[in-house]
Amino acid sequence: MSVSPTVSSSAFSASATSASIASPASGSSAPTQSELLDFARRAAADAELVASLPLDPEGRTWVRLEGPGGSEAWLIGWPPGTGTGWHDHADSVGAFVTAAGELKEYSLAARLPTDGWKTLELTDGVDRERRLPSGKGRSFGRHHVHEVLNESAEEHAISVHAYYPPLPRIRRYSRTGQVLRLEHVERPEDWQ
Ligand SMILES: [Fe+2]
Repeated sequence: MSVSPTVSSSAFSASATSASIASPASGSSAPTQSELLDFARRAAADAELVASLPLDPEGRTWVRLEGPGGSEAWLIGWPPGTGTGWHDHADSVGAFVTAAGELKEYSLAARLPTDGWKTLELTDGVDRERRLPSGKGRSFGRHHVHEVLNESAEEHAISVHAYYPPLPRIRRYSRTGQVLRLEHVERPEDWQ
């Protein structure tokens, strides 16, 4: 897996700044899920920004963006067949939007206990899945558990992600049937 150098996109930072100025509600307060989603939508629609992401057929690539209100944001490239594995974002809320290709999200409609467990048996009916073709996205609240995949056999996918607060940690899980197992906790540098 390769990692592109962290660069900021001055073009998009500028539009993000003007977007936040244009929104009287944003002020200095924490960005809401809908503000993060709006940012991700705008960035995903920025053809110049999306085209600036280096793509690698061997692994995901990413470029850090300047998200609104101090949020953490990324532009991510997904070769066919790549994915994140199951994880959550601890206490951060977030949003992501597909800019090219299509992503698939598998998620859990369940609130997991935050600490003090190693394996958990999920009840039936908690699984959700959604297709996110280009232009589609979603926001999510704290402790959202999901995995995101590019299931295409041929096409790269590109997406924009934003989180607030900036990700302090990612909890990674393995899953066997209905059993979810906490595998390790990562710092964001290790993450997608
Ligand atoms: Fe995630």
